[in-house]
Amino acid sequence: MSLQERVTQAYIERFGERPLYIVRAPGRVNLIGEHTDYNDGFVLPMAIDRSIYIALSPRADNRVELHSLDLDTPAEFSLSAFEKGDEGWVEYVKGMAWVLQEAGFELTGWQGISAGDIPVGAGLSSSAALELAVARAFATVSDLPWDTAQMALLGQKCENKWVGVNCGIMDQMISAAGKEGHALLIDCRSLESCLVPLPKGTAVVILDTATRRGLVDSAYNERRQQCEEAAAYFGVPALRDVDIDTFNAKADGLDPLTRKRARHVITENQRTLDAMAAMLQEEPRELGRLLNESHASLRNDFEVSSKELNQIVECATRRDTAIFGARMTGAGFGGCAVALVRDYNAKAFGNAVAACYQAATGLQPNIYICYPSDGANVIVSN
Ligand code: GLA
Repeated sequence: MSLQERVTQAYIERFGERPLYIVRAPGRVNLIGEHTDYNDGFVLPMAIDRSIYIALSPRADNRVELHSLDLDTPAEFSLSAFEKGDEGWVEYVKGMAWVLQEAGFELTGWQGISAGDIPVGAGLSSSAALELAVARAFATVSDLPWDTAQMALLGQKCENKWVGVNCGIMDQMISAAGKEGHALLIDCRSLESCLVPLPKGTAVVILDTATRRGLVDSAYNERRQQCEEAAAYFGVPALRDVDIDTFNAKADGLDPLTRKRARHVITENQRTLDAMAAMLQEEPRELGRLLNESHASLRNDFEVSSKELNQIVECATRRDTAIFGARMTGAGFGGCAVALVRDYNAKAFGNAVAACYQAATGLQPNIYICYPSDGANVIVSN
C-alpha cells in the first residue's frame, strides 16, 4: 500500500470520513555544496522520492490533532494556548504553528494522520520534510498564500527557535522548492534558485552507513563559529564573499585550523558552481570529479567525515565501471554518502558497495536509488 493510501485509510478508520486533503513534503539529498549554506553560499541538493504524507481536514474548534503512523505520541493542542514541551516530533508541529502565527497568519485548526518513509536521523532531512508538510497542512486549511522561500524560512525558524537546532536554510528550501527530474542550485544569500536537470543516463544512489548522530551536537555549532571567525578576519559578512585568490593572498594570518575550515567553504562554493555548469553541459564525469574533491575537502579540511563515511565512499569509488563520483552528504559524522552512477548499473553498484562496506565494518548499510521529486505540495483536494 502506498503512503497516500495508508494515511487515507487510517484517517477514515479514526475519523469516520474521507480526508479533505492530502499534502506531502520530501526529504533531500545534497549533491554538493556542504556546510556552505550558513556561509551565505551555494548548495545543490535535490528533493528525493521519500516523503512525509498528511491526510487532513479542517476543524472548527481551533485545535490541531495529528496522529503519526510511525510514532506513538499524537500532537494535540489548541491554537490559542500551547507551550513548548519536549515531545520529539510533536514540537515540530507546534513550532510550525508558532512561526506561522508569529508571521501574522490566522490559522485554522485541523485533524490528520501522517506517515513517512524518510529514515529518521540519517541526514536526509526528515525534520525539514515534517516542517514543510505541516506548513502545507496549515496553509491549505487556512487558505494562506504559498511562497516557497517564505515557508522555508519559517521552517528554519521553527528548527532554530522552537526546536533549538542551529541549521542553515538548505534543507527547508529544497523540501519546499524541489522539482521532479532536477536538482536545485540555491543561492543561500538571496534565496534565488535555479533548476538543474540530472545528466542523462545517471542515477543518484544514497549510501546509508547505518551510523547516526544528532545535529544538536556541538561540532556543527563549532564549525559555524570557526567560519564566522574567518569571515571577520577577511572583513566580510560571510565566507561567500571571499574568493580563492583573496584567500591565498591573506590566509597566512589565520590560525591553521580556522584556515582549513575557511578553505573548505571557499573551494566548496566554487565546486558547487562548477558542478552546476557540469550538469548543464551534460558532463557527468566532471560532476563526479567535483563530488570526489568535495569529499576530500570535507574529510581533510572541514573534518566532518567519519571512519564509516570514508569507508563507504572508498567502497563506492572503487567500482570504476559504474561510478562517476561519491562523497559524504549532509552535516557529517554519520548518516549517508551520495554517489552519482550510470543509471543502468545503479542496482549492481548498490549491491557491490553494500557487500564491500559490510565486509569492512560489520555494519549493514541501506542503499537507496533516488529520483529527484517535487517539493511540498497538495496532492489531493476533495
Ligand atoms: C545540515 C543542516 C544544513 C546544512 C548541512 C551541511 O543538514 O541542516 O542547513 O548546514 O547540515 O551542509
